[in-house]
Amino acid sequence: MQKLLIRGPARLSGTLVAGGAKNAALPILAAALLADEEVELSNLPQVQDIRTMLKLLAHLGVESERRGDAVILRPTGKANPDVAPYELVKTMRASVLVLGPLLARRGHARVSLPGGCAIGVRPIDLHLAGLEALGAEVEIEHGYVETRARQLTGARFHFAKPTVGGTENLLMAACLARGTTVLSGCAREPEIVDLARFLQALGAEIDGAGEDTITIEGRDRLGGARHRVISDRIQDGTYLIGAALTRGDVTVEGSRPADLAPLLEKLDEIGAEVETSQQRIRVRHRGPLKPRGVVTEPFPGFPTDLQAQYMTLMTQAEGSSIVSETVFENRFQHVPELLRMGADISIDGTYARIHGPSALSGTSVMATDLRASACLVLAGLVADGETVVHRIYHLDRGYERMESKLQKLGARVERID
Ligand code: UD1
Repeated sequence: MQKLLIRGPARLSGTLVAGGAKNAALPILAAALLADEEVELSNLPQVQDIRTMLKLLAHLGVESERRGDAVILRPTGKANPDVAPYELVKTMRASVLVLGPLLARRGHARVSLPGGCAIGVRPIDLHLAGLEALGAEVEIEHGYVETRARQLTGARFHFAKPTVGGTENLLMAACLARGTTVLSGCAREPEIVDLARFLQALGAEIDGAGEDTITIEGRDRLGGARHRVISDRIQDGTYLIGAALTRGDVTVEGSRPADLAPLLEKLDEIGAEVETSQQRIRVRHRGPLKPRGVVTEPFPGFPTDLQAQYMTLMTQAEGSSIVSETVFENRFQHVPELLRMGADISIDGTYARIHGPSALSGTSVMATDLRASACLVLAGLVADGETVVHRIYHLDRGYERMESKLQKLGARVERID
């Protein structure tokens, strides 16, 4: 199995070009199941989760091919199964996003239950309640969820809790429902807005994406479209945290400051210098880092997907800070590994108290999930000596060639077998 070897300490300095957002690209790929004609997507990140989704689409009857930087998707027209099997869903929870479009387009979908994952239980009860509100029959049997509806019908549905995947599944399904659907209590993440823009390009009528209430007028069919996926706020945010952490100076070109506002405000508060223009963010070291707490929340709150990386940053701040995780119940698995590197962190339920600054020292650490992996790589950059991050298949699910980006910024990082 591959590992990352990091020789610290490093100072990150230079410019990166932002890559496409995995979490926007995955629902958009699932939405290609709704299209009657050819779809051309550009700025898809080259990460494992995207390859898994393309495999799932091929299985479901949407073939893809590369054309330059873009991927072309088109329905094969052959009779394909409406089934997302366990083998594909188990490696990527986002496979559950095919449920809404399959059901809406073909009247039937059978998708393996994604089950829990390292960061928490992650149920899909709200996705299912929403589909039922649109008239679907839902059955759970043998570890699969099976849904049927000859024709979905527009309805009002309120999400008891904002869910990114739930909002996306319902938004896609409602585009082919008969009549008007009004979804309230929606998640407001930028990735949902990007999905809505893609659906609109296919011919869907959607109003309010990015707000609490989304209204969708159902259509009989959707055509084809060309779409460029937005940049990845989580990858960008990780490198910008790296700049503040390593007393460096990093610019990300093509990044979207508004999507990263909660992180950029924190970086400014802790004493880093943050400069933004419309499509560019620069973060550089200005002086000692001040401790500041964060509470993870749905957008526009501080993203749970940057919590672990921010915690590494706080190990270098001068004083105590509290990180509170409110989105997922088990998202502190990086803490024992950071402790092994010399961090001073105590956990009390959903709170972690970090005392800094700690002199971190390199050792072998184990990645447990995607974002935890990134936080360990960051820790390796400020640690003294060699850090080996094991199980980087987690990292490869969501970070595009992280070692080459870090090398470009001056770090000594290599992938080893
Ligand atoms: C998405 C992102 C993930 C990110 C998360 C929160 C993708 C592929 N994944 O995940 O990277 O960490 O948003 O921003 O885009 N919940 C329920 N019932 C449901 C659905 C969710 O109780 O039916 C709960 C979850 O357990 C969690 C919270 O709602 O506590 C938010 O989950 P959700 O927004 O659905 O996360 P995902 O869409 O899975």
